[in-house]
Amino acid sequence: MIAAALDLERVPAHVACVMDGNGRWAQSRGLPRTEGHRAGEEALFDVVEGALDIGVEWLTVYAFSTENWRRPADEVRFLLDFNEDILLRRRDELHQWGVRVRFVGRRDQRVPKRLLGLMDDAIRLTEHNSRMTLAIAFNYGGRAEIVDAVRAVVSAGMRPEQITERTIARRLYDPEMPEPDLMIRTSGESRTSNFLLWGLAYSELYFTDTAWPDFRRGDLYEAIRVYQERERRFGRLAPNGAGPSNASVAASNGDG
Ligand code: IPE
Ligand code: IPE
Ligand code: MG
Repeated sequence: MIAAALDLERVPAHVACVMDGNGRWAQSRGLPRTEGHRAGEEALFDVVEGALDIGVEWLTVYAFSTENWRRPADEVRFLLDFNEDILLRRRDELHQWGVRVRFVGRRDQRVPKRLLGLMDDAIRLTEHNSRMTLAIAFNYGGRAEIVDAVRAVVSAGMRPEQITERTIARRLYDPEMPEPDLMIRTSGESRTSNFLLWGLAYSELYFTDTAWPDFRRGDLYEAIRVYQERERRFGRLAPNGAGPSNASVAASNGDG
C-alpha cells in the first residue's frame, strides 16, 4: 500500500497504535521475547516517518501499560532499559524530523528516575516542534487516567453540578491530545487493553494480524485506506445521499 492511494485531504489527524505482538513474533522465530521488542523499534520509526509524510498531526503509541508490570521481572527490566536506550539514541532524530514528543501515563515511583529524566529531556528538546506530536503511552492505563482526572476534580473542590465531560477531558494526562480518529492494533487481538479509554469513544478501530515488528508505513497506509471507507456518524444519521439504505433510515426518522 502506498500513500498515493490515499485521500490526503482526509488523513486522520490522530492515529493511535497498540504496538502488540512483539513477544509472539520473537517466539515464532525461536528467539527470546525481548528480541521482539527490539525489532519493534524499526517498525515504530518507519511508522513515525510514514505518518509524517502524509501529514498525520498526532500519533500516540502504547509502549507500556499499567498492567505490564505483571510480566516477569526480566522482561519488565528489559522494557524499562530499552525505552531509556531508544530515547537516548533517537531523540535527536525525532527532533530533526520536527516531531514534538510527549508522554502519557502515571509518573509513579515504579518508573525509574533516570527514565523520567530522559522523558523530560525529550519533551524539552522537542517542545517547539510542530510537524507532528508523538505521544508515548508509558505506564499508561485508561482507567488510571480517569481515576487521576477524578482525583484532580475532587482536589479542585468542584461541586457535582459543575462537572461536565469537559471537566474530565481537561484533566486527562495530556489535555491537548485530540481524540483518536483511528486506533490500530496489531497481532490479531481485538481489544483495547485499557488504551485511551476516554478518547476512543468514537474512534474507528482497525485490527490486523500483522505483528508489530513486521508493521511498516505501508501497513499504516492500508489502515488509513480502510478508515477512509468508513462513515463516522457520531450518533447522528448519515448525511443525505449517502446511499439508499442510509437515506431510507434518515427518511423514516424524519431527519432533515
Ligand atoms: C507488545 O508486545 C509490547 C508490550 C506490551 C510492551 P507483547 O510483548 O505484548 O507481545 P505479545 O502480545 O506477547 O506477542
Ligand atoms: C497492550 O498489549 C499494551 C501494549 C502494547 C504496551 P498487551 O499485550 O499488554 O495486552 P493484552 O495483555 O494482550 O491484553
Ligand atoms: Mg501483547
